[in-house]
Amino acid sequence: MGRIMDKATSKLLFLENVDSTNTYAKNNFDQLEDGTLVVAETQSAGRGRLGRVWVSPPGVNIYASFVMKNCQNPFGATQVLSLGALKMLRALPGAEKLPLWIKWPNDLYCGDRKLAGVLCEGVLSRHGVIAGIGINLNLSPSELEKISQPAISMSAATGMKYNLKKTIAALDKSIKECYIIYNSCEKDIFSEWKSNNYLVGHQVKIDNGRECFSA
Ligand code: BTN
Repeated sequence: MGRIMDKATSKLLFLENVDSTNTYAKNNFDQLEDGTLVVAETQSAGRGRLGRVWVSPPGVNIYASFVMKNCQNPFGATQVLSLGALKMLRALPGAEKLPLWIKWPNDLYCGDRKLAGVLCEGVLSRHGVIAGIGINLNLSPSELEKISQPAISMSAATGMKYNLKKTIAALDKSIKECYIIYNSCEKDIFSEWKSNNYLVGHQVKIDNGRECFSA
């Protein structure tokens, strides 16, 4: 295991084109430092949950995977990523009045539309987790319509265009801050994640791709 990240300055790795940042991070896990954020301009085989494709056109959205060597718990990784992303998104210009929230377990929503998704995958042989996130940043309304579920981008929600590089840098900082807190006190991240997760404590209908039930 590499050195555990102890400050929010670890590596940010930009790739132009990759199949999937999660796959890249998993395949290069031993060489990547704890707390590295692997970011791609585009993905040729972006993966979503339940075997879905994550549409990844170049230059408009964020596709990133966070390397967590000090984490054997994909649920903890989900909390770090979704909370880190939520805080960053809420700080963007125009976001002040948007209804941004975490939808249990892995999604970020703006109102009733999906804005971002998290895919965490364990690297079992190394006791680590790769936590990937895709965020619709500047995707146009016509592109959003092609997505199979109701989706939104930050630009569609606010009418503003966002600088991709600056937003990635802000995401990197925010995720790393959450990871540092998580490493020292998991409970603090869990309680903040829970208080922004409006489905916790409510009855929900779960669709796991094979069956649908209430819980
Ligand atoms: C979902 O909501 O289904 C999860 C989507 C996760 C997409 C991201 S994009 C970066 C990383 N690389 C992938 O192949 N998937 C995740």
